[in-house]
Amino acid sequence: MSNVEVIRHPAEMSAWAEAVRERGERIAFVPTMGALHAGHVSLLSAAREHADRVALSIFVNPTQFGPNEDLARYPRDLVGDLTKAAGVGTDVAFVPEVADMYPPGAQTVVEVREVSKGLCGDRRPGHFSGVATVVCKLFGIIRPHVAIFGEKDFQQLAVIRRMVLDLDLPVEIVGCPTLREQDGLAMSSRNAYLSPDERARAVALFRGLSAARECFRGGERSALALVEAALHVITPSFDRVDYVEIREADSLLPVQRLDKPAVILAAVFLGATRLIDNIRLF
Ligand code: PAJ
Repeated sequence: MSNVEVIRHPAEMSAWAEAVRERGERIAFVPTMGALHAGHVSLLSAAREHADRVALSIFVNPTQFGPNEDLARYPRDLVGDLTKAAGVGTDVAFVPEVADMYPPGAQTVVEVREVSKGLCGDRRPGHFSGVATVVCKLFGIIRPHVAIFGEKDFQQLAVIRRMVLDLDLPVEIVGCPTLREQDGLAMSSRNAYLSPDERARAVALFRGLSAARECFRGGERSALALVEAALHVITPSFDRVDYVEIREADSLLPVQRLDKPAVILAAVFLGATRLIDNIRLF
């Protein structure tokens, strides 16, 4: 297991990537906020399949957190992250400082208008603009041939795909399935916030979405009825349900009857911890 090279400065990261491209090699890139779990590691493994060199970024991006969100307490574990990344053959980790990513005078943001609306976009104002802006910057610094994202953050993946299309960014976007704990809870860095009691209740999120999928497989095609089926399982276990909605899988537009591939998405709170999950219905 060879070590992962750590690069802190954007200019150095660009130079590394440029040298790789000059050798005619392909770069696969996995952006993260660190506190890596098996879900992140699965993206790094997928990245290996797509290119000669794998670049990981670890950056807790302040511009995608709202004023009352968990930026200050977001889990950080650089040493652990590098060990996990090395285990799957990651070549380089870009770990920039906030001041180097957002130097004084920066004034450009990326706004993906429609796909950022609804779902998490409405509940977390400015979130997807923060995500799109930092991912666009990371693409500019690294100029990867391919970038890997998780379907766990379904709306985020749709925002990134739209941005790449609209801005003619020369990068292929690959989406990967959600990795889950044995009981079905989607892996997330934020699961670390959960008390044992909350952790036990958290599984109701996946169970609720699965209940909707069972109804769908049983022939139910009304979005309202499927959402009801999910809420029946989800509501009793959580302190607050942010949303449970069904959208078209490609456009993320609302649907009433499921006659195209769709996805059921949900966000819930256990105390101050917000969990999201989704599963496809087809
Ligand atoms: P972060 O939450 O660290 O997630 C990094 C990547 O890992 C995302 O593409 C996310 O969808 C994926 N991921 C998270 N949990 C997963 C799971 N259980 N299975 C598979 N993949 C999973 O998403 C972000 O960071 C940020 O918004 C970022 C894109 C890095 C921009 O700051």
